Amino acid sequence: MRNFTITDAVRDYAVSHGDWQPDEVVRELQRETAALGDEASMQVGADQGQLLTMLARLVGAGQAVEVGTFTGYSSLCIARGLADGGRLLCCDVSEEWTSIGVRAWQRAGLRDRIELRIAPAVETLRSLPTEAYLDLVFIDADKPGYRSYWQELVPRVRPGGLLLADNVLWSGEVTDPDASGENVTALREFNDLVAADDRVEVVMLTAFDGLTIARKR
Ligand SMILES: C[S@@+](CC[C@H](N)C(=O)[O-])C[C@H]1O[C@@H](n2cnc3c(N)ncnc32)[C@H](O)[C@@H]1O
Repeated sequence: MRNFTITDAVRDYAVSHGDWQPDEVVRELQRETAALGDEASMQVGADQGQLLTMLARLVGAGQAVEVGTFTGYSSLCIARGLADGGRLLCCDVSEEWTSIGVRAWQRAGLRDRIELRIAPAVETLRSLPTEAYLDLVFIDADKPGYRSYWQELVPRVRPGGLLLADNVLWSGEVTDPDASGENVTALREFNDLVAADDRVEVVMLTAFDGLTIARKR
């Protein structure tokens, strides 16, 4: 097995050999997000964005949900991969951060595909229809909330649909016995919950900050 550090140059190389090259809308969004300072690191990278678009296409996503939208980059990537007439529901608590995303969605011509609800995500998810109608969900909000988001979302995903969860390796801290913060503890509990859930088939990617891909049986 080969192990190596993913430098910016390697990531740029990978992105340049994939689809969906960052266009002016994305570059402007990245600039606006970078101007926020440290929080900018919450945004998924361009390589992960390409994967989100690809996965949305692979499942022919007509109905998708994102939990944790921030400045709207991952949602832009998912929305680009939706099937004709597809819809993405975005859940976040920040008007300030998501307003940057709303402007980017408008510039990208995707605004009509995306609904944004500003409220604690668990409230939004509990208000959704209870049948299994979702094709794709992406969980990337507060880590202590992941278990609740999972329990609300799994029954609402159709057989063959995907649940994605970001940051599940938390910079590798999940395996560090000295790491005991709230986020890493919540992620360990979440990962155990997912691994024991017979309703899904699971692969945990060691790419990015750890990405769980779960397919509903
Ligand atoms: C890691 S960022 C999301 C990054 C985004 N997916 C991207 O790639 O640009 C986490 C987001 O979760 C939101 N958030 C935190 N707690 C939340 C909650 N209880 N309900 C909904 N959103 C929440 C934050 O406001 C923040 O925008």
